[in-house]
Amino acid sequence: MQQAVQHKIDTNRYAKCVEHSKRIRWDIDRDVIRGRRFDFSQKFLPDGLSKVDRLEFLNAAEQRFLSQIQGRSYANIFGLVERFIAAKVLEVSREHWLGDQTALEALVRFSDEEIKHQEMFRRIERMAAEEMPEGYTFLPDANAVASVVLAKSTWAVLALTCHIELFVLAHYRESIDPDPNLSELWKDVFLYHWREESQHAILDELEWLREDAKLTPAERDQAVNELIELVGAVDGILQMQASADADYFLKACGRSFSSDEVEKIRAGVLGAYRWQYIVSGVQGRFSEVLGRIIDAAQAERIGQALAPIMQ
Ligand SMILES: [Fe+2]
Ligand SMILES: [Fe+2]
Repeated sequence: MQQAVQHKIDTNRYAKCVEHSKRIRWDIDRDVIRGRRFDFSQKFLPDGLSKVDRLEFLNAAEQRFLSQIQGRSYANIFGLVERFIAAKVLEVSREHWLGDQTALEALVRFSDEEIKHQEMFRRIERMAAEEMPEGYTFLPDANAVASVVLAKSTWAVLALTCHIELFVLAHYRESIDPDPNLSELWKDVFLYHWREESQHAILDELEWLREDAKLTPAERDQAVNELIELVGAVDGILQMQASADADYFLKACGRSFSSDEVEKIRAGVLGAYRWQYIVSGVQGRFSEVLGRIIDAAQAERIGQALAPIMQ
């Protein structure tokens, strides 16, 4: 009986996601880009995410340039993670093929949207490349990363996905939307992205909990280890890209810095990336859901693994 009630609640949530997804559906050119270019007299990422305001020895133009570099990588990182997210969502949709057709529709729309988002982020990268100084490189390869991620258990991949899609929402709501001084086009990219991601975050949670219900305690324990490995892999990517972005900034910004300042720039970019892609997502709804399904020892293990990153 309780199961039937839960099933009805879940079906309604899938149905709401389908309804919203249909209502807010947008097109890259018609709705988002509309023939516009980026305004390079404005920042891309707000200070709350880029943390460039902490590098007080940079002048306003330099802080703005560093925020634009970070914004470019921000778009590229979403293009990257959406490769494995779309593949995983298509895979878990299999369980609804001959079952709840509303859930199936919700997940098909979800993966379709992620494929569109990847195309949008490739466009953003090309547009940024046309106007920014040469020398920028985005190092991680989407398929190589996806192969590593998708080799982990579904529980771990859905946990990571839920974490990512929740922080997308938090970044937009808390930092991007309230900032009046961002490039209008850049801001619109993340407004439209946020609208579709709002459904994804709900679906991630539904699928994650559905997967969780199937696991034995031993399987869940192993999945927690895999989630820790995935967060470690994300941190590895962030270290690599933070270093590349700091190098690009130092080469392209047109003046030299003391070795102490160079160190601060490098640490500042890495700290910002850890905040953006790990720390800001660990709080709120994600830890609430995670806290409900793992035990105290597992929470302790995750806390220990995160400690060096959270500093
Ligand atoms: Fe997306
Ligand atoms: Fe998404």
